[in-house]
Amino acid sequence: MANAAKFWNKMARKYSRDAIKDMASYEYTLERTRSYLNATDRVLELGAGTSSTALLLAGEVASYTATDISSEMVAIGREKLAETPVSGLEIKVGDLKTFADKTGGFDVVMGLNLFHLVENPTSAFSQIHGMLAQDGLFISKTACLADEPKFLKRMMFRVMVAVVGTLRLVPRPIHCFRVRELEAMIENAGFEIIESGNHPVSPPSRYVVARKD
Ligand SMILES: C[S@@+](CC[C@H](N)C(=O)[O-])C[C@H]1O[C@@H](n2cnc3c(N)ncnc32)[C@H](O)[C@@H]1O
Repeated sequence: MANAAKFWNKMARKYSRDAIKDMASYEYTLERTRSYLNATDRVLELGAGTSSTALLLAGEVASYTATDISSEMVAIGREKLAETPVSGLEIKVGDLKTFADKTGGFDVVMGLNLFHLVENPTSAFSQIHGMLAQDGLFISKTACLADEPKFLKRMMFRVMVAVVGTLRLVPRPIHCFRVRELEAMIENAGFEIIESGNHPVSPPSRYVVARKD
């Protein structure tokens, strides 16, 4: 975890400057997410990066806590919040462990472009289930590189992930999920998937909205 935080601290300024690769997919899932939010919701976002999405959505809900393990990502998020204040938005360093005692404390938990990077996604999904109130929503977007539709690109991802992992150029793990494997983990944690789709299709990023059973 310390390695991951160090890596993302180094990446943060560049990450915040880089343009979103597929804006149409980003905007589509942003609007789908917005459609599930209520004015009374208490939202937690994990791995929020520079809080770009948090800044766009926090005004719709009662409280929105955007967290990240990288203090540099959090610092950039706070700079943006100072420029464009949004009431009810708190940005802080943290991860799932930070909220271990928050049983039933959130109506929505989000994690975007995060779960292919976490140590134990099965355990993460079950902790998130515990943190949600009854009928609460878990909204996520996760790279599913093993389901890349183009054969050559799929092979390239496999080789790239193996090489950067072995050479320790990026923190491990990087999971190469299949969509059905990811969704089975979410369902096995006690969720019912109410919406899902690949946005974008290539490289596949699985958007999943799941309700706590
Ligand atoms: C690919 S970026 C995605 C950022 C943002 N969610 C987005 O979609 O732009 C992954 C983020 O997750 C954070 N991260 C990595 N591992 C994490 C973990 N185990 N718990 C919480 N955050 C983590 C990183 O610091 C980084 O900001």
